Amino acid sequence: MMKEKIEALKESFNAKISEINKKDALEQLRVAVLGKKGEFTALMKDMKDLQAEARKEIGQLINNVKNDFEAAIAKKAKELEEAEINAKVENEWSDISWPETPVQGSIHPLSIVRKELEDLFISMGFDILDGPEMEEEYYNFNALNIPEDHPARDSQDTFWLKNGKLLRSQTSPVQIRGMLAKKPPIKFVCPGKTYRNEAVDASHEHSFHQCEGLVVDKGITVSHLIFTLKQIVSSIFGEDVEIRLRPSFFPFVEPGFELDFKCRICKGKGCSVCKQTGWIEYLGCGMIHPQVLKNCGIDPEIYSGFAFGGGIERLTMMKYGIDDIRHFHAGDLRFLKQF
Ligand code: PHE
Repeated sequence: MMKEKIEALKESFNAKISEINKKDALEQLRVAVLGKKGEFTALMKDMKDLQAEARKEIGQLINNVKNDFEAAIAKKAKELEEAEINAKVENEWSDISWPETPVQGSIHPLSIVRKELEDLFISMGFDILDGPEMEEEYYNFNALNIPEDHPARDSQDTFWLKNGKLLRSQTSPVQIRGMLAKKPPIKFVCPGKTYRNEAVDASHEHSFHQCEGLVVDKGITVSHLIFTLKQIVSSIFGEDVEIRLRPSFFPFVEPGFELDFKCRICKGKGCSVCKQTGWIEYLGCGMIHPQVLKNCGIDPEIYSGFAFGGGIERLTMMKYGIDDIRHFHAGDLRFLKQF
């Protein structure tokens, strides 16, 4: 009797398990057969009616069968797991040539403006150049007409490095690198990081960004420079902003100018960002000094050019009405999430 029951259980178990293709169905079967109120428990109860001899034999048989069932269930569970993974892999796909897309977070406001500047200049046929942040004294100063002991060095409190190099205090060394690498006509911009050993306040940072721009060709004049600067301002702000050009001095340009905007935070009334002047000094610019052209092997009798360099932080602050430069590096999500 018992043996037949066990045989019948085996048959029905094998039939059922071979049809199972889902994890929860397998679990149901396990509980129905091996669980506390399952079929094995019922069989064990029947054993009490058996003689001692038979009980031993049947007991062993039940144990063996039980072990077989457990092994079969474990095997099936593994098969189902593997099938599930295979199905997932088949349904998922990835295109490794797809550009990386930000899945969360937002684009930093400085990156937005940098990208806008790059797009504007690409649309005007400029190249985008890059240069080292750890720069040589020659490119940052000497080649730009700023010899040692020149007072202009004092205006840019430079971080000097132990290896004799420096953290570039301006993007202007890329003017030299660009002019040495290319032959006129030359048209490029270089947005990048710059460093100055300055006390930090609402409008000064020791690490900031500039965008340098340079054009060298035959017949380049100040009017080309002014046109280009107007393009920058109107494209970043998307509207007319009052600007003014003041004569200024930079050893690597002649004549040199500074371009100011009407402060967009206080609309010219005076605030902490514009130091109560109503104007934001935006960038330095001018016609490339003949000596600088010569330093780069360009004949100033044939070619002329203009150069400009301005802070990306200030532009971004004006664009979005940000009143403190320290927000950019503070990592405060409440600030960053607004962009
Ligand atoms: N490099 C200068 C600065 O950081 C700006 C400048 C660039 C001036 C190009 C003239 C021409 O102050």
